[in-house]
Amino acid sequence: MNAPSFSPTFRAELEQLFTWRRDVRHFRTDPLPDHILQHLLETACLAPSVGLSEPWRFVKVDSPTRRHAIRENFAHSNARELAGRGGDDAQRYASLKLAGLDDAPHHIAVFCETNPAQGRGLGRGTMPQTTTWSAVMAIHTFWLAATALGIGVGWVSILDPKEANRVLGVNPDWQFLAYLCVGYPQEPASSPELERRGWEQRNPARRQWIAR
Ligand SMILES: Cc1cc2nc3c(=O)[nH]c(=O)nc-3n(C[C@H](O)[C@H](O)[C@H](O)COP(=O)(O)O)c2cc1C
Repeated sequence: MNAPSFSPTFRAELEQLFTWRRDVRHFRTDPLPDHILQHLLETACLAPSVGLSEPWRFVKVDSPTRRHAIRENFAHSNARELAGRGGDDAQRYASLKLAGLDDAPHHIAVFCETNPAQGRGLGRGTMPQTTTWSAVMAIHTFWLAATALGIGVGWVSILDPKEANRVLGVNPDWQFLAYLCVGYPQEPASSPELERRGWEQRNPARRQWIAR
């Protein structure tokens, strides 16, 4: 099969995809067709992985009981986070919306099997964390593929990971990486919500090489 050659138009649109990929916290409630979710999973699996270990484990959470337990987990974790802050910082934190758990039609938990048989250990002898990094790359691939279809993804990490493994009934040795809210965004945005709400700014210094 011949490798495709990417046109200037495609490259410009790809650049727009990177610019418009957002962490989404405000969702429409209408679900995605099943085949679209399947397509996103298959695209995510095109991500690179150390030793071709494919250590990502995507768990589709449909059970209302388990979703409720995750919402409780988030509420407790977020309250703890808020309690650890004071004054103005606490007030600003409390004003942020940090998850779309109530509205997002799809919930997907992502884990890493940190020592999988697949890949036979290749490439991770000196840096065992490379399995984690591989699984995170699959999440990013999923995120970009979703954006290309006008679908929003919101990464929720304000959760107790051990409790997440327990309520989702997965192997306790799997490393909890992300709880993804997935669905159509209420509104597209070209800048991060945290920037728009004055919490943090992107830093131009990060766009410069550090020379050695
Ligand atoms: C590892 C990771 C964890 C994150 N956890 C949360 C979270 O718990 N809640 C939240 O609202 N956003 C979370 N985010 C989203 C970031 O806040 C967001 O990516 C950042 O503000 C930049 O915005 P953008 O993704 O729209 O460009 C997380 C992102 C990453 C990569």
